[in-house]
Amino acid sequence: MQSQFRLGIIGLGLVAKEHIAAYQELDGIRIVSVCDVNADAARHWGQALDAAHYTDYRDLLARGGVDLVLVLTPASTHRPIVEAAAAAGFPILCEKPLAVTVEDGVAMVAACTRHGVKLFYGSIYRYLPAVRTAKALIDQGAIGNIQVMTEQMIGGNGAAAYRQLAPVHYPHGGPGGSGMGLVDHGVHLIDVFSWFTGGAPVQVMGSGQISGAPLRSEHLTMRFAGGAMGHLIYNAGTYSTYLPNEGMFSGGMSWLTDGSLAPPGTWLGEPGSISVHGTTGSLRIFHFANALFLNQGKGMRQIALEGRPCPDHFATQLEDCIAAIRDDRAPSIGGEDALRALRVIEAAYH
Ligand SMILES: NC(=O)c1ccc[n+]([C@@H]2O[C@H](COP(=O)([O-])OP(=O)(O)OC[C@H]3O[C@@H](n4cnc5c(N)ncnc54)[C@H](O)[C@@H]3O)[C@@H](O)[C@H]2O)c1
Repeated sequence: MQSQFRLGIIGLGLVAKEHIAAYQELDGIRIVSVCDVNADAARHWGQALDAAHYTDYRDLLARGGVDLVLVLTPASTHRPIVEAAAAAGFPILCEKPLAVTVEDGVAMVAACTRHGVKLFYGSIYRYLPAVRTAKALIDQGAIGNIQVMTEQMIGGNGAAAYRQLAPVHYPHGGPGGSGMGLVDHGVHLIDVFSWFTGGAPVQVMGSGQISGAPLRSEHLTMRFAGGAMGHLIYNAGTYSTYLPNEGMFSGGMSWLTDGSLAPPGTWLGEPGSISVHGTTGSLRIFHFANALFLNQGKGMRQIALEGRPCPDHFATQLEDCIAAIRDDRAPSIGGEDALRALRVIEAAYH
């Protein structure tokens, strides 16, 4: 019987709620301390979880007694928190994107290396059953050599309803935009496409939203070493063109183009999907709706999925981090994966 695994959580907003809910189904986990600059949030979660609560992350780190520190704060705040947690000697799970700039990301990875602590990067899409199964099929050769990978999130409720993430996430004048834009959401896809093809893109072209600037369409085209192309296109300030018969009941929780959340079981009028086209087949991955289809020239065939769909995939991610710590192996998704995605974004903006 393993001893309890103790978590310290810094940042108690939207994503923390999903992490905490997903962890409830795991045995042997205890959230022992929480922190948020918002004293009400810190008190609420401290009481709800019977955990020590703080408004300054340095106090949480000084208290110690945790086996993993989760950094679930906005991206612009990640660097000082991760550097302090590394200096205090704690393994860290940091939400995506690792930072807003490559410079900050490099400093964070260097701090973790210097202090000999593991840095887990929260590229959570790799824990979604449809994405994992797609990767397994790709590796088995089910679609041959990848030619094209695409994802687009184009919709919302018009330009007047378009909302960007606040400057605490992405300071004005730098990369930023909506929660379904290139930086905040596309960073997942850059990682997934690199994972599918087995390496970083060799060529990048794109254009992204500037935080605080008027709405603009965003796109990113990546060319990978084997010749595969990855294409992302985003605009959350317009309207969808999905037809009613293109919807589906979702098998998981979904983040929608307008930034809202739809619970599992909801009818999704525009279910987000990723397409991967290879030389001998293709895949359509409904990552949030938890469905996967394979076409090997005989029409689309649905593939059975195992594992926890969104939002319980946060538990799968945590189990993987705990296993890496207990077995003392490298993180499945670590600092170099985080930097690869950040470098692609920065290249697109340049
Ligand atoms: N993996 C995913 O699916 C997913 C989904 C949403 C958000 N995220 C990521 O999670 C992170 C947080 O996003 P969110 O949507 O929860 O944001 P949020 O704004 O809802 O919550 C962030 C919380 O952090 C607190 N905070 C800010 N600075 C702090 C500091 N210095 N110390 C302690 N607390 C601080 C805020 O008061 C707030 O409660 C971001 O990096 C975001 O990109 C990931």
